[in-house]
Amino acid sequence: MPKIRPEDLDKISEEIRRTTLLREGAGRAKVIVHMSTCGIAAGARTIMKALMEEIEREQVKDVLLTTSSCAGLCSREPMVTVEVQDEPPVKYIDLTPEKAKRIFTQHVLSGEIVKEYALGLGSERLL
Ligand code: FES
Repeated sequence: MPKIRPEDLDKISEEIRRTTLLREGAGRAKVIVHMSTCGIAAGARTIMKALMEEIEREQVKDVLLTTSSCAGLCSREPMVTVEVQDEPPVKYIDLTPEKAKRIFTQHVLSGEIVKEYALGLGSERLL
């Protein structure tokens, strides 16, 4: 087991603060990459990687990047659902890493939905 260095403690502390904020609903947004078999086959891993790179590049601390299973639209994968606090979720379809990066910058960080990539607003559970 590697030793913990003093600089590691700052990282651990920051990660705990960030995840606590998100658990308590104080985070800015949640980004869900649909990573079922169909999503992975269509390239969901490249979408996840692109989003992780954006979070790292922008030094974002209040966005939760997570995964879920199939959203029921295999033919429109890769898909991502963006849930910005106090807004209805938005599902994005037929993504590429470039599209995912644009969604991250425009919707997650700036609050403006990227309409040309969006399937619809709201949760399928409400329909
Ligand atoms: S696995 Fe994607 S719709 Fe069933």
